[in-house]
Amino acid sequence: MNISKATEQLEQNGYLNLEVDAQIDLFAEIEKLKKEKNAIVLAHYYQESDIQDVADYIGDSLGLAQKAQSTNADMIVFAGVHFMAETAKILNPSKKVLLPDLKAGCSLADSAPADLFKAFKEKHSDHLVISYINCTSEIKALSDIICTSSNAEKIIESLPKEQKIIFAPDKNLGGYLNKKTGRNMLLWNGACMVHEIFSLEKIIKLKIRHPEAEVVAHPECEEAVLRIADFIGSTTQILKYTATSPANTFIVATETGILHQMQKDAPNKTFIPAPPTNNCACNDCPYMKLNTLEKLYLCMKYELPEITMDENLRIAAKKPIVRMLEISRKAGLIG
Ligand code: 13P
Ligand code: SF4
Repeated sequence: MNISKATEQLEQNGYLNLEVDAQIDLFAEIEKLKKEKNAIVLAHYYQESDIQDVADYIGDSLGLAQKAQSTNADMIVFAGVHFMAETAKILNPSKKVLLPDLKAGCSLADSAPADLFKAFKEKHSDHLVISYINCTSEIKALSDIICTSSNAEKIIESLPKEQKIIFAPDKNLGGYLNKKTGRNMLLWNGACMVHEIFSLEKIIKLKIRHPEAEVVAHPECEEAVLRIADFIGSTTQILKYTATSPANTFIVATETGILHQMQKDAPNKTFIPAPPTNNCACNDCPYMKLNTLEKLYLCMKYELPEITMDENLRIAAKKPIVRMLEISRKAGLIG
């Protein structure tokens, strides 16, 4: 869908200027709307705490795609970013899929423009394309298999050792996977602005002050940070690790929204967000944090903004996603 055009339309209709009565209980209203509309609220761990608390399901990218595939709800309200809601729509063309803020994009998805990627792929026509789910549906349509940080290793291992592979769009995740699997995948030069901002120097200083702390990191982080991590995994895998590890203090190198569930799962443990290079809140994803409880309520009430897709593109993008879900199911992987 053309996001700027759709946003312009919402602006013209006055939708973007709607205000929420400060007196209403948003939690109760959202619950009411869920029942009235047979809606499900899916939220990523990077969403603000209130949204996580009102969601029917919280998960990583794989878990969210699996839930979107299996739900019986008529309406999927996606508290996440655009590529996640689009994946839900690709899997559910007849359901209404809503995203509270259409501008909730992704710097990683933006780092792979479809025309440039198509030319790159044509130059390496003997390669299969594995794309990280954090990409546009145009890139998905140019891919053979999609993966997430939860299943990437299994997806790569499902291909013969000698198979040439292009991995896109995240060069950090791709580099990490090359090391883990012993492959030599050709990497697209994309990255996530949130995971590239962590300061190795500041993390090391924190480690000196908290020698007992374990460093946990998402594989979208740069290699230097991954090298000093005690555990590397998807958001769901990191959560499982911090809840079960005997350690009591963790330095967390991923988006700060995850701390909410970490603290809920292990209230007596201490979680320190890994510091960014400067003094900004750059380890908050500016796209994920565009969604608010107010916007979630408005979006359910007015059933806007809705994710729409060209049908040919949807069909082409669906194939590599279904292939991923199939491999994950056979491997017993749940996000
Ligand atoms: P996972 O949800 O796969 O852990 O990925 C994190 C992320 O950056 C999502 O945008
Ligand atoms: Fe994209 Fe990074 Fe934000 Fe995830 S954290 S949505 S990869 S910009």
